[in-house]
Amino acid sequence: MWALRSWCASHKCLPCYFNWPENATLQALPRSGVLDHQSPDDVPTQQLFAFARTLGDSPVRRVFLAGGEPLLWAPALKLIEILKTQRIEVVVCTSGPALNKPGMAERLVDLGVDAFSVSLDSTDAEYNDRWRPPRKPGFGWEGVVNGIRTVLTARGDRPQPRVGIYSMITKLNLDAITTVPRLAAELGCDYFVAQPVSLPADHNLHDELVLTETDIPRLRREFGQLYASGLPLTLPSADYPGQFVSAVQESTGLVRDCFGGNDLFFVEPDGSVWDCPSALRIAQTPPQRRRNIRETTAADAFRPAGCADCALFSVDCVNMWPLMGFDRVVDPAPAGSTS
Ligand SMILES: C[S@@+](CC[C@H](N)C(=O)[O-])C[C@H]1O[C@@H](n2cnc3c(N)ncnc32)[C@H](O)[C@@H]1O
Repeated sequence: MWALRSWCASHKCLPCYFNWPENATLQALPRSGVLDHQSPDDVPTQQLFAFARTLGDSPVRRVFLAGGEPLLWAPALKLIEILKTQRIEVVVCTSGPALNKPGMAERLVDLGVDAFSVSLDSTDAEYNDRWRPPRKPGFGWEGVVNGIRTVLTARGDRPQPRVGIYSMITKLNLDAITTVPRLAAELGCDYFVAQPVSLPADHNLHDELVLTETDIPRLRREFGQLYASGLPLTLPSADYPGQFVSAVQESTGLVRDCFGGNDLFFVEPDGSVWDCPSALRIAQTPPQRRRNIRETTAADAFRPAGCADCALFSVDCVNMWPLMGFDRVVDPAPAGSTS
C-alpha cells in the first residue's frame, strides 16, 4: 500500500486519515509516521521512480496506489507505466472524478491498470459531498459516478481493469452497506467494500462518526442483507462482516500471525516503510526496523519480518483485510460468491 503524495487536489474529506495542517493537536507528534496533507518531505519524483524500478526484483506482486489523490499527481501515469513494465499488479485507489479527464481512463486501461477502487460513501449525493467536499467543480457525487461510468466504458468488454466502490461507514451512513452496492451493481462495477471509519479518540469528529456497540445490531442486519442479496459483485470474504463487528466491539486485542510486515507493507509519502498503516503499529516500530525508499531497493525495503502475533489490533486492521483478500477481485470466483 503506497501513499504516494501528501497533497490532495481532489477532495477535503473531513474524516480523512491524513491530517489537515490546521489540526493543532498533531503538531507535537514526530513527522515520520504521521500522515499530513501538507508535508515538505515527499520523496522527489525521480527518486520515487528509481525505487519503483527495483520492484520487479522484489517479492512485491501488487501495489495499491493511494495517498492524496494519485490521479491528480501528473507523474502517477509514468509511475504506473514503470510498475506495469515490471509486471506488478496495480490497483489505483481513487476519488474517481479524475477519470473523466479527456483520454485519462483510456490511457490507464491501455497501461494495464488491474483495478480501480473508487471512494463513494452514499447513494445520497448530499451526504457524500458533505463529508467528502469536492475541491473542484465537477468533483462531487455526480463526478464520481461519471468517473466510474467512464472507466467502465473505456474498459469495454475486456476483463480488466476491475472496478469497485469503497464506502467508509460511519454512524451516519449504515444504510450504505446495502444501498451503495446496489448502485455499484447497476453501474456494472465488479466489487464493493464497506470499511469502518477509523479516527483517533481526540479527533473532533470521533464521537459523531465512529461506530459503537449500539450500531452492532444494525451492522449485522445490513451485512446480512448484503451477503444474502446475490448481487453480481465480489465482496470481501464471508468472515469479513464478523471482523468488522468485532473491531467495533473491542478496540484492542491480539491479531494472530499478522500479515503486516510480511505480506503487506505501507509506504508513506516521505518514503518511510512501515509494516502496516495502523497508527498503533507505526508508533511501536523499533528504530532498527525503520527504512526509507530513498535509501534502499524494494528487495531490501520489503524484507519480511516473519508473521508474528500482533497485540496492536485496531480498527485500522479491518481496512487491511480486504486488501489481503484482493486476489478474489482480480481473479474472481463466480459473481455473487462470498466464501
Ligand atoms: C485516503 S483515500 C486516498 C485515495 C483517494 N484519494 C480516494 O479518495 O480514494 C483512501 C481510502 O481511505 C479511506 N479513508 C480515508 N480516511 C479514512 C478514515 N479515517 N477511516 C477509514 N477510511 C478512511 C477513503 O474513504 C478512501 O476510500
